Amino acid sequence: MGQPHPEFPGVVIFDHPLIQHKLTHLRDKSTSHRPFRALVAQIAGLMVFEATRSFPVQEIEIETPLERMRGQHLAAKITVVPVLRAGLGMAEGVLEVMPEAREGHLGLARDEETLQPVVYLKKLPKDLDAGPVLLVDPMLATGGSAVEAMKILRAAGAKDLRFLCIVASPEGVARLKQAEPEITIYAAAVDRGLNHKGYIVPGLGDAGDRLYGTV
Ligand code: PRP
Ligand code: URA
Repeated sequence: MGQPHPEFPGVVIFDHPLIQHKLTHLRDKSTSHRPFRALVAQIAGLMVFEATRSFPVQEIEIETPLERMRGQHLAAKITVVPVLRAGLGMAEGVLEVMPEAREGHLGLARDEETLQPVVYLKKLPKDLDAGPVLLVDPMLATGGSAVEAMKILRAAGAKDLRFLCIVASPEGVARLKQAEPEITIYAAAVDRGLNHKGYIVPGLGDAGDRLYGTV
């Protein structure tokens, strides 16, 4: 479903028609918060199949109504960490398809003047090293929030870390790859760039505001 991006190493891009169709409606300024929220969750739910492809599994023995057999089940504790606010919309879609995952929370708000992230909430499981961690945030703009979030997750013990966003900028990708060279970034689009206010263009606007109708 996802492909290595032809221009950005370490980025897996989702050129699947279903995801691109949903992304177009997400970008459309006439899409109100209710369908916006549903689209964010649906895109994240589709992306998670690719992002979890290499998750460890183990065989267990079960009994069907007909006979005993060995089947696979997820071997590790999985944690989804949304960056508040907008990441919550993606976490909803991820948990819909992977309800066994735990959810940690990081509250980060970007200062609109300095564009620096300000951390206001950290609630994470203690044993983050017990399995893969999926960091989710729809927007990778300057990259400041994602780099800060990863720093917090690393300090809390996360080892197998993946980042899922919906729209990325080339600047954000470069900054995150510089801070975390081994990280795989899953994105539905890498857009043209950033405007003078640090917004992704063409982008989709302020994801948190559009998600919660606080525009
Ligand atoms: C948005 C977005 C990211 C951040 C990206 O959140 O959800 O967290 O901006 O920008 P950056 O890459 O330049 O750091 P915002 O700070 O607007 O908070 P919100 O989700 O509460 O609206
Ligand atoms: N945050 C958003 O929500 N959108 C952008 O384009 C940049 C940062």
